[in-house]
Amino acid sequence: MILVTGGAGFIGSNFILDWLATCDEPVVNLDALTYAGNLHNLASIKDDPRYTFVHGDIGDTALIADLFGKHQPRAIINFAAESHVDRSIHGPEDFIQTNIVGTFRLLEATRAYWSSLVDRAAFRFLHISTDEVFGTLGATDPAFSEITQYQPNSPYSASKAASDHLVRAYHHTYGLPVLTTNCSNNYGPYHFPEKLIPLVIHNALEGRSLPIYGDGQQIRDWLYVKDHCSAIRRVLEAGTPGETYNVGGWNERANLDVVHVLCDILDELAPKSDGASYRKQITFVTDRPGHDRRYAIDARKIEVELGWRPVETFESGIRKTVRWYLDNAEWVRGVTSGSYRNWVEKQYA
Ligand code: NAD
Ligand code: TYD
Repeated sequence: MILVTGGAGFIGSNFILDWLATCDEPVVNLDALTYAGNLHNLASIKDDPRYTFVHGDIGDTALIADLFGKHQPRAIINFAAESHVDRSIHGPEDFIQTNIVGTFRLLEATRAYWSSLVDRAAFRFLHISTDEVFGTLGATDPAFSEITQYQPNSPYSASKAASDHLVRAYHHTYGLPVLTTNCSNNYGPYHFPEKLIPLVIHNALEGRSLPIYGDGQQIRDWLYVKDHCSAIRRVLEAGTPGETYNVGGWNERANLDVVHVLCDILDELAPKSDGASYRKQITFVTDRPGHDRRYAIDARKIEVELGWRPVETFESGIRKTVRWYLDNAEWVRGVTSGSYRNWVEKQYA
Protein backbone atom coordinates (compact mmCIF):
# COMPACT_ATOMS: atom_id res chain seq x y z
CA MET A 1 0.00 0.00 0.00
CA ILE A 2 1.23 3.48 -0.82
CA LEU A 3 0.00 6.81 0.53
CA VAL A 4 -0.21 9.63 -2.01
CA THR A 5 -0.77 13.21 -0.83
CA GLY A 6 -2.24 15.83 -3.18
CA GLY A 7 -3.56 13.05 -5.43
CA ALA A 8 -6.56 15.09 -6.59
CA GLY A 9 -4.34 17.69 -8.26
CA PHE A 10 -2.88 17.70 -11.75
CA ILE A 11 0.18 15.45 -11.40
CA GLY A 12 -1.09 13.43 -8.44
CA SER A 13 -4.27 12.35 -10.21
CA ASN A 14 -2.35 11.36 -13.35
CA PHE A 15 0.01 9.43 -11.09
CA ILE A 16 -2.78 7.50 -9.31
CA LEU A 17 -4.55 6.66 -12.58
CA ASP A 18 -1.31 5.38 -14.10
CA TRP A 19 -0.36 3.52 -10.92
CA LEU A 20 -3.60 1.54 -10.82
CA ALA A 21 -3.35 0.91 -14.57
CA THR A 22 0.13 -0.58 -14.23
CA CYS A 23 0.05 -2.50 -10.91
CA ASP A 24 -2.31 -3.91 -8.29
CA GLU A 25 -0.89 -2.27 -5.19
CA PRO A 26 -3.58 -0.23 -3.37
CA VAL A 27 -3.36 3.56 -3.00
CA VAL A 28 -4.68 5.89 -0.33
CA ASN A 29 -5.09 9.46 -1.57
CA LEU A 30 -4.98 12.21 1.08
CA ASP A 31 -6.03 15.57 -0.35
CA ALA A 32 -7.33 18.79 1.20
CA LEU A 33 -9.30 19.59 -1.98
CA THR A 34 -8.18 23.19 -2.37
CA TYR A 35 -9.24 25.02 -5.54
CA ALA A 36 -6.64 22.86 -7.37
CA GLY A 37 -7.91 19.50 -6.13
CA ASN A 38 -10.64 17.88 -8.20
CA LEU A 39 -12.18 14.47 -7.55
CA HIS A 40 -13.63 14.41 -11.08
CA ASN A 41 -10.07 13.61 -12.21
CA LEU A 42 -10.40 10.28 -10.39
CA ALA A 43 -14.03 9.49 -11.23
CA SER A 44 -13.01 6.42 -13.25
CA ILE A 45 -11.49 4.71 -10.19
CA LYS A 46 -13.71 5.98 -7.38
CA ASP A 47 -15.28 2.53 -6.82
CA ASP A 48 -12.05 0.59 -7.40
CA PRO A 49 -11.39 -1.54 -4.26
CA ARG A 50 -7.68 -0.70 -4.56
CA TYR A 51 -8.39 3.04 -4.14
CA THR A 52 -9.27 4.99 -0.96
CA PHE A 53 -9.82 8.74 -0.78
CA VAL A 54 -9.31 10.65 2.48
CA HIS A 55 -10.23 14.32 2.70
CA GLY A 56 -7.63 16.06 4.86
CA ASP A 57 -4.56 18.21 5.30
CA ILE A 58 -0.92 17.04 5.32
CA GLY A 59 -0.50 19.34 8.35
CA ASP A 60 -3.07 17.39 10.40
CA THR A 61 -0.72 15.25 12.49
CA ALA A 62 -3.47 13.27 14.24
CA LEU A 63 -5.15 12.39 10.96
CA ILE A 64 -1.85 11.28 9.40
CA ALA A 65 -0.99 9.14 12.43
CA ASP A 66 -4.42 7.54 12.17
CA LEU A 67 -3.92 6.84 8.45
CA PHE A 68 -0.54 5.25 9.11
CA GLY A 69 -2.02 3.03 11.83
CA LYS A 70 -4.93 1.96 9.66
CA HIS A 71 -3.20 1.45 6.30
CA GLN A 72 0.46 0.71 7.17
CA PRO A 73 1.88 2.19 3.93
CA ARG A 74 5.26 1.03 2.66
CA ALA A 75 5.81 4.44 1.02
CA ILE A 76 4.53 8.02 0.88
CA ILE A 77 4.61 10.15 -2.24
CA ASN A 78 4.19 13.80 -1.32
CA PHE A 79 2.61 15.80 -4.15
CA ALA A 80 0.52 18.05 -1.88
CA ALA A 81 1.47 21.69 -2.33
CA GLU A 82 0.37 25.12 -3.38
CA SER A 83 1.86 25.13 -6.88
CA HIS A 84 1.11 28.33 -8.80
CA VAL A 85 3.81 31.05 -8.93
CA ASP A 86 1.37 33.90 -9.70
CA ARG A 87 -0.83 32.99 -6.73
CA SER A 88 2.28 32.91 -4.51
CA ILE A 89 3.02 36.49 -5.58
CA HIS A 90 -0.50 37.67 -4.68
CA GLY A 91 -0.65 35.71 -1.40
CA PRO A 92 2.35 33.74 -0.12
CA GLU A 93 0.80 32.69 3.21
CA ASP A 94 -0.85 29.47 1.98
CA PHE A 95 2.47 28.46 0.39
CA ILE A 96 4.31 28.80 3.68
CA GLN A 97 1.56 26.92 5.47
CA THR A 98 1.25 23.91 3.16
CA ASN A 99 4.64 23.66 1.49
CA ILE A 100 6.76 24.33 4.57
CA VAL A 101 4.71 23.76 7.73
CA GLY A 102 2.62 21.00 6.11
CA THR A 103 5.68 19.12 4.84
CA PHE A 104 7.33 19.48 8.24
CA ARG A 105 4.28 18.01 10.03
CA LEU A 106 4.05 15.19 7.49
CA LEU A 107 7.73 14.41 8.06
CA GLU A 108 7.25 14.38 11.83
CA ALA A 109 4.28 12.01 11.63
CA THR A 110 6.19 9.85 9.16
CA ARG A 111 9.23 9.69 11.42
CA ALA A 112 7.11 8.46 14.34
CA TYR A 113 5.47 5.77 12.17
CA TRP A 114 8.71 4.76 10.46
CA SER A 115 10.50 4.38 13.85
CA SER A 116 7.94 1.73 14.79
CA LEU A 117 8.47 -0.40 11.67
CA VAL A 118 10.31 -3.70 11.81
CA ASP A 119 11.80 -3.27 8.33
CA ARG A 120 12.70 0.43 8.43
CA ALA A 121 15.10 0.21 5.49
CA ALA A 122 12.33 -0.81 3.10
CA PHE A 123 10.23 2.31 3.75
CA ARG A 124 10.34 5.33 1.36
CA PHE A 125 9.30 9.00 1.63
CA LEU A 126 9.32 10.37 -1.92
CA HIS A 127 9.09 14.16 -2.08
CA ILE A 128 7.97 15.74 -5.36
CA SER A 129 9.77 19.00 -6.00
CA THR A 130 10.48 21.38 -8.84
CA ASP A 131 13.37 22.74 -10.89
CA GLU A 132 12.31 26.26 -9.80
CA VAL A 133 14.29 25.83 -6.54
CA PHE A 134 17.48 26.34 -8.60
CA GLY A 135 16.51 29.86 -9.66
CA THR A 136 17.03 31.21 -13.15
CA LEU A 137 19.54 30.51 -15.93
CA GLY A 138 21.19 32.78 -18.49
CA ALA A 139 20.87 31.86 -22.17
CA THR A 140 24.16 29.95 -22.31
CA ASP A 141 24.36 28.57 -18.76
CA PRO A 142 24.50 24.78 -18.38
CA ALA A 143 21.22 23.12 -17.36
CA PHE A 144 20.41 22.48 -13.67
CA SER A 145 22.04 19.35 -12.28
CA GLU A 146 21.52 17.71 -8.89
CA ILE A 147 24.42 19.72 -7.46
CA THR A 148 23.33 23.14 -8.74
CA GLN A 149 23.01 25.61 -5.87
CA TYR A 150 19.49 26.42 -4.67
CA GLN A 151 18.56 30.06 -5.49
CA PRO A 152 14.75 30.24 -5.40
CA ASN A 153 13.26 33.53 -6.59
CA SER A 154 9.49 33.38 -5.97
CA PRO A 155 7.56 32.72 -2.77
CA TYR A 156 6.48 29.43 -4.42
CA SER A 157 10.00 28.24 -5.23
CA ALA A 158 11.34 29.46 -1.86
CA SER A 159 8.67 27.44 -0.05
CA LYS A 160 9.46 24.35 -2.15
CA ALA A 161 13.19 24.84 -1.49
CA ALA A 162 12.48 25.00 2.26
CA SER A 163 10.51 21.75 2.08
CA ASP A 164 13.32 20.06 0.11
CA HIS A 165 15.80 21.09 2.83
CA LEU A 166 13.59 19.65 5.56
CA VAL A 167 13.27 16.38 3.66
CA ARG A 168 17.04 16.25 3.22
CA ALA A 169 17.59 17.00 6.93
CA TYR A 170 15.27 14.16 8.01
CA HIS A 171 17.50 11.77 6.10
CA HIS A 172 20.76 13.23 7.33
CA THR A 173 19.66 13.57 10.97
CA TYR A 174 17.24 10.70 11.55
CA GLY A 175 18.06 8.33 8.70
CA LEU A 176 14.53 8.52 7.22
CA PRO A 177 14.78 6.87 3.76
CA VAL A 178 13.80 9.86 1.62
CA LEU A 179 13.99 10.47 -2.12
CA THR A 180 13.47 13.82 -3.85
CA THR A 181 12.68 14.52 -7.49
CA ASN A 182 13.11 18.00 -9.00
CA CYS A 183 11.06 18.13 -12.17
CA SER A 184 10.63 20.71 -14.92
CA ASN A 185 7.28 22.14 -16.13
CA ASN A 186 4.65 19.46 -16.75
CA TYR A 187 1.73 19.59 -19.18
CA GLY A 188 -1.07 17.18 -20.10
CA PRO A 189 -4.58 16.07 -19.04
CA TYR A 190 -6.24 17.51 -15.88
CA HIS A 191 -3.96 20.56 -15.83
CA PHE A 192 -5.78 23.42 -14.12
CA PRO A 193 -6.30 26.29 -16.61
CA GLU A 194 -4.39 28.85 -14.55
CA LYS A 195 -1.04 27.57 -15.91
CA LEU A 196 0.22 28.64 -19.32
CA ILE A 197 -0.67 25.67 -21.58
CA PRO A 198 -4.22 24.87 -20.38
CA LEU A 199 -4.98 28.60 -19.96
CA VAL A 200 -4.04 29.30 -23.57
CA ILE A 201 -6.07 26.36 -24.91
CA HIS A 202 -9.10 27.39 -22.84
CA ASN A 203 -8.88 31.10 -23.69
CA ALA A 204 -8.34 30.37 -27.38
CA LEU A 205 -11.50 28.28 -27.59
CA GLU A 206 -13.47 30.90 -25.61
CA GLY A 207 -12.38 33.64 -28.03
CA ARG A 208 -10.43 35.44 -25.29
CA SER A 209 -6.96 36.97 -25.45
CA LEU A 210 -3.88 34.76 -24.96
CA PRO A 211 -1.79 36.66 -22.38
CA ILE A 212 1.99 36.57 -22.86
CA TYR A 213 3.98 37.99 -19.96
CA GLY A 214 6.71 40.45 -20.99
CA ASP A 215 8.43 39.58 -24.27
CA GLY A 216 7.43 35.89 -24.21
CA GLN A 217 11.07 34.79 -24.55
CA GLN A 218 11.24 33.09 -21.14
CA ILE A 219 12.24 29.46 -21.52
CA ARG A 220 10.77 26.42 -19.78
CA ASP A 221 11.73 22.74 -20.19
CA TRP A 222 8.44 20.94 -20.86
CA LEU A 223 7.68 17.35 -19.84
CA TYR A 224 4.50 15.39 -20.60
CA VAL A 225 2.90 14.53 -17.25
CA LYS A 226 2.76 10.75 -17.93
CA ASP A 227 6.54 10.79 -18.37
CA HIS A 228 6.90 12.50 -15.00
CA CYS A 229 4.70 9.77 -13.49
CA SER A 230 6.88 7.00 -14.95
CA ALA A 231 9.99 8.75 -13.57
CA ILE A 232 8.44 8.87 -10.09
CA ARG A 233 7.58 5.15 -10.25
CA ARG A 234 11.14 4.40 -11.30
CA VAL A 235 12.69 6.51 -8.50
CA LEU A 236 10.39 4.87 -5.94
CA GLU A 237 11.44 1.44 -7.20
CA ALA A 238 15.17 1.92 -7.64
CA GLY A 239 16.28 5.31 -6.28
CA THR A 240 18.92 5.44 -3.53
CA PRO A 241 17.64 6.90 -0.22
CA GLY A 242 19.04 10.38 0.44
CA GLU A 243 19.57 11.06 -3.27
CA THR A 244 17.82 13.65 -5.44
CA TYR A 245 16.94 13.11 -9.11
CA ASN A 246 16.33 15.82 -11.69
CA VAL A 247 13.54 14.97 -14.13
CA GLY A 248 13.12 16.80 -17.43
CA GLY A 249 12.03 16.42 -21.01
CA TRP A 250 15.04 17.83 -22.92
CA ASN A 251 12.46 20.21 -24.36
CA GLU A 252 13.43 23.84 -23.88
CA ARG A 253 10.94 26.20 -25.49
CA ALA A 254 10.30 29.94 -25.32
CA ASN A 255 6.77 30.73 -24.09
CA LEU A 256 5.83 32.52 -27.31
CA ASP A 257 6.86 29.46 -29.35
CA VAL A 258 4.74 27.21 -27.13
CA VAL A 259 1.73 29.48 -27.67
CA HIS A 260 2.35 29.53 -31.43
CA VAL A 261 2.41 25.71 -31.50
CA LEU A 262 -0.85 25.56 -29.51
CA CYS A 263 -2.52 28.05 -31.90
CA ASP A 264 -1.36 26.08 -34.94
CA ILE A 265 -2.69 22.75 -33.60
CA LEU A 266 -5.99 24.40 -32.67
CA ASP A 267 -6.20 25.98 -36.15
CA GLU A 268 -5.94 22.44 -37.54
CA LEU A 269 -8.16 20.54 -35.06
CA ALA A 270 -10.74 23.21 -34.16
CA PRO A 271 -10.64 25.86 -36.92
CA LYS A 272 -12.46 29.10 -36.22
CA SER A 273 -15.60 29.67 -38.26
CA ASP A 274 -14.22 32.94 -39.69
CA GLY A 275 -11.03 31.19 -40.86
CA ALA A 276 -8.77 33.43 -38.72
CA SER A 277 -5.84 31.95 -36.83
CA TYR A 278 -5.92 31.72 -33.03
CA ARG A 279 -2.55 33.52 -33.16
CA LYS A 280 -4.54 36.74 -33.66
CA GLN A 281 -5.70 36.43 -30.01
CA ILE A 282 -2.13 36.71 -28.65
CA THR A 283 -1.73 39.77 -26.38
CA PHE A 284 1.44 40.91 -24.64
CA VAL A 285 0.75 41.86 -21.01
CA THR A 286 2.75 43.21 -18.06
CA ASP A 287 5.52 40.85 -17.01
CA ARG A 288 5.37 38.74 -13.84
CA PRO A 289 7.40 40.37 -11.01
CA GLY A 290 10.76 38.62 -10.59
CA HIS A 291 10.01 36.41 -13.61
CA ASP A 292 12.64 33.66 -14.00
CA ARG A 293 14.12 33.83 -17.50
CA ARG A 294 15.11 30.24 -18.18
CA TYR A 295 14.80 26.77 -16.64
CA ALA A 296 16.54 23.72 -18.09
CA ILE A 297 17.06 20.27 -16.58
CA ASP A 298 20.07 18.06 -17.03
CA ALA A 299 18.37 14.66 -16.66
CA ARG A 300 21.45 12.49 -17.18
CA LYS A 301 21.61 11.12 -13.63
CA ILE A 302 18.17 9.50 -13.71
CA GLU A 303 18.92 8.18 -17.19
CA VAL A 304 22.35 6.72 -16.36
CA GLU A 305 21.58 5.41 -12.86
CA LEU A 306 17.94 4.38 -13.21
CA GLY A 307 17.51 3.95 -16.98
CA TRP A 308 14.61 6.44 -17.24
CA ARG A 309 13.93 8.58 -20.30
CA PRO A 310 10.78 10.39 -21.43
CA VAL A 311 8.69 8.66 -24.08
CA GLU A 312 6.90 11.68 -25.54
CA THR A 313 8.49 14.37 -27.64
CA PHE A 314 7.11 17.90 -27.23
CA GLU A 315 5.32 17.52 -30.58
CA SER A 316 3.57 14.25 -29.65
CA GLY A 317 2.76 15.30 -26.08
CA ILE A 318 1.36 18.72 -26.94
CA ARG A 319 -0.89 17.26 -29.64
CA LYS A 320 -2.27 14.68 -27.18
CA THR A 321 -2.85 17.47 -24.69
CA VAL A 322 -4.79 19.69 -27.11
CA ARG A 323 -6.91 16.71 -28.14
CA TRP A 324 -7.62 15.90 -24.50
CA TYR A 325 -8.89 19.44 -23.83
CA LEU A 326 -11.04 19.33 -26.96
CA ASP A 327 -12.51 15.97 -25.88
CA ASN A 328 -13.04 17.03 -22.25
CA ALA A 329 -14.87 20.33 -22.48
CA GLU A 330 -17.11 19.18 -19.62
CA TRP A 331 -14.13 18.86 -17.26
CA VAL A 332 -12.93 22.34 -18.23
CA ARG A 333 -16.42 23.78 -17.66
CA GLY A 334 -16.48 22.18 -14.23
CA VAL A 335 -13.24 23.77 -13.06
CA THR A 336 -13.67 27.21 -14.65
CA SER A 337 -16.66 28.41 -12.67
CA GLY A 338 -16.86 30.34 -9.41
CA SER A 339 -13.53 30.99 -7.74
CA TYR A 340 -11.68 30.39 -11.00
CA ARG A 341 -13.39 33.38 -12.59
CA ASN A 342 -12.56 35.59 -9.61
CA TRP A 343 -8.89 34.63 -9.93
CA VAL A 344 -8.74 35.36 -13.66
CA GLU A 345 -10.38 38.77 -13.17
CA LYS A 346 -7.86 39.69 -10.45
CA GLN A 347 -4.77 38.38 -12.27
CA TYR A 348 -5.43 39.79 -15.72
CA ALA A 349 -7.23 43.03 -14.70
P1 NAD B 1 -1.77 21.09 -8.16
O1 NAD B 1 -1.84 22.48 -7.62
O2 NAD B 1 -2.49 20.76 -9.40
O3 NAD B 1 -2.27 20.05 -7.04
C1 NAD B 1 -1.92 20.14 -5.70
C2 NAD B 1 -2.85 19.21 -4.92
O4 NAD B 1 -2.47 19.28 -3.53
C3 NAD B 1 -4.33 19.59 -4.99
O5 NAD B 1 -5.11 18.44 -5.19
C4 NAD B 1 -4.61 20.21 -3.63
O6 NAD B 1 -5.97 20.04 -3.21
C5 NAD B 1 -3.64 19.43 -2.75
N1 NAD B 1 -3.28 20.14 -1.52
C6 NAD B 1 -2.90 21.45 -1.41
N2 NAD B 1 -2.65 21.74 -0.11
C7 NAD B 1 -2.84 20.60 0.60
C8 NAD B 1 -2.70 20.25 1.96
N3 NAD B 1 -2.31 21.16 2.87
N4 NAD B 1 -2.94 18.97 2.34
C9 NAD B 1 -3.35 18.05 1.42
N5 NAD B 1 -3.51 18.32 0.12
C10 NAD B 1 -3.25 19.58 -0.30
O7 NAD B 1 -0.22 20.79 -8.28
P2 NAD B 1 0.55 19.87 -9.34
O8 NAD B 1 0.86 20.66 -10.53
O9 NAD B 1 -0.15 18.58 -9.48
O10 NAD B 1 1.92 19.65 -8.55
C11 NAD B 1 2.09 18.55 -7.67
C12 NAD B 1 3.48 18.63 -7.05
O11 NAD B 1 4.45 18.61 -8.09
C13 NAD B 1 3.71 19.93 -6.27
O12 NAD B 1 4.46 19.60 -5.12
C14 NAD B 1 4.53 20.78 -7.22
O13 NAD B 1 5.38 21.65 -6.51
C15 NAD B 1 5.31 19.73 -7.97
N6 NAD B 1 5.73 20.08 -9.35
C16 NAD B 1 4.80 20.56 -10.24
C17 NAD B 1 5.21 20.83 -11.55
C18 NAD B 1 4.22 21.32 -12.59
O14 NAD B 1 4.64 21.67 -13.71
N7 NAD B 1 2.92 21.35 -12.31
C19 NAD B 1 6.54 20.64 -11.93
C20 NAD B 1 7.44 20.15 -10.99
C21 NAD B 1 7.02 19.86 -9.70
P1 TYD C 1 3.28 28.67 -15.53
O1 TYD C 1 2.48 27.71 -16.34
O2 TYD C 1 2.58 29.53 -14.53
O3 TYD C 1 4.46 27.84 -14.86
P2 TYD C 1 5.80 28.37 -14.08
O4 TYD C 1 5.65 29.81 -13.76
O5 TYD C 1 5.77 27.51 -12.86
O6 TYD C 1 6.94 28.08 -15.00
O7 TYD C 1 4.03 29.64 -16.55
C1 TYD C 1 4.88 29.12 -17.55
C2 TYD C 1 5.51 30.29 -18.26
O8 TYD C 1 4.48 31.01 -18.98
C3 TYD C 1 6.12 31.29 -17.31
O9 TYD C 1 7.32 31.82 -17.92
C4 TYD C 1 5.08 32.38 -17.17
C5 TYD C 1 4.40 32.37 -18.54
N1 TYD C 1 2.96 32.74 -18.56
C6 TYD C 1 2.50 33.71 -19.47
O10 TYD C 1 3.28 34.25 -20.28
N2 TYD C 1 1.18 34.01 -19.46
C7 TYD C 1 0.29 33.44 -18.60
O11 TYD C 1 -0.92 33.80 -18.62
C8 TYD C 1 0.77 32.45 -17.68
C9 TYD C 1 -0.17 31.78 -16.71
C10 TYD C 1 2.12 32.13 -17.69
